[in-house]
Amino acid sequence: MDLYEYQARDLFEHYGVPVLAGVVADTPEEARAAAERLAGTVVVKAQVKTGGRGKAGGVKVAHSPDEAAAAAEAILGLDIKGHVVKRLMVAAGARIEREFYVSILLDRANRSYLSLASYEGGMEIEELASTRPDALARVEVDPIEGVTLDKAREIARAARFPDDLLDDVAPVLERLWHVYRDEDATLVEVNPLVRTESGEIIALDGKITLDDNAAFRHPEHEALADAGDVDPLEAKAKQHDLNYVKLDGQVGVIGNGAGLVMSTLDVVSYAGERHGGVKPANFLDIGGGASADVMAAGLDVILSDPQVKSVFVNVFGGITACDAVANGIVGALAKLGDEANKPLVVRLDGNNVEEGRRILTDAAHPLVTLVDTMDAAADRAAELAAA
Ligand SMILES: Nc1ncnc2c1ncn2[C@@H]1O[C@H](COP(=O)(O)OP(=O)(O)OP(=O)(O)O)[C@@H](O)[C@H]1O
Ligand SMILES: [Mg+2]
Repeated sequence: MDLYEYQARDLFEHYGVPVLAGVVADTPEEARAAAERLAGTVVVKAQVKTGGRGKAGGVKVAHSPDEAAAAAEAILGLDIKGHVVKRLMVAAGARIEREFYVSILLDRANRSYLSLASYEGGMEIEELASTRPDALARVEVDPIEGVTLDKAREIARAARFPDDLLDDVAPVLERLWHVYRDEDATLVEVNPLVRTESGEIIALDGKITLDDNAAFRHPEHEALADAGDVDPLEAKAKQHDLNYVKLDGQVGVIGNGAGLVMSTLDVVSYAGERHGGVKPANFLDIGGGASADVMAAGLDVILSDPQVKSVFVNVFGGITACDAVANGIVGALAKLGDEANKPLVVRLDGNNVEEGRRILTDAAHPLVTLVDTMDAAADRAAELAAA
């Protein structure tokens, strides 16, 4: 889960990473009030989970509460790379002398952690990495030892911070490591970290990605999850513990096992080319126990997607045999009643396939078509979606 800048700011503050005051505002009036509270120059910042806000007009300096309200008016509703701005942070203005870059992240390829840092911040880090790779230090962080003060100095030195800044920057890096470790993050990034004209080191912008696999250790993270931001279908799927990802197409897909579902997406895309370019509408892996309840929950999520025109149920019976899956489908359709209103193409194979097919044939549900092979079933589902 990615956090908003204001959430990162709050966590930073909690861990003693130096930040400036920041107040969340959802309307121009709230922005005006926030600017009054903060007094002096403020910066009004779009809160969206994407980068490049400044360039897109999502970060504006305001010298008075009126200017803050006007900036808020201009930024709210802005579309930044597909993210519509609904919330702002009004931050105290810093007098910046110099901008730096620091981050700690999970280095999957090396099964380790990595710190990236540069004395030459202030520009997009991807750009720096490609145009001036020598200016961006990459220092491995041992997951057990982490970033001690010594390690932090090593990182800062590699990033070419001058000696007289090491004592100021190293403790900040050490605290960022505490955020990274104690919150189970996979990314903690500060761009820019700045030195102000009065010589303070301050984190002016923060990005944190929390590791969802560690969510069970952090019940408090749930409050950070932004329900309004999540796709409603994905939220519904999550309630049922379903492994669902919304896609853009018209053919709903249900399968058992992530690998089978992935290849189902491929065959549907391929078949779709013959039928006006229809595409899969989602990824949904119902896993091993394809009971009627799980099947009903999965079908319910898929059928409530208005883009879906047909559904392809692709199941390979294993420990949960085809007859159990077939009963699951029949039970699910009975459970959903009139809500099941789109054609279903079912392909069953594997353990107890004959019995499974017989159950579906006997049920003779008007929406269900049984097809024996995966390719033919994908073709039929794509054809129905295109009709
Ligand atoms: N509180 C502040 N006071 C003064 N200047 C600021 C403040 N916050 C941001 N800025 C200036 O605005 C620039 C852009 O801000 P910020 O880094 O938060 O957004 P961004 O980099 O455009 O967004 P993203 O990091 O999401 O790509 C900073 O590099 C800094 O120069
Ligand atoms: Mg930034």
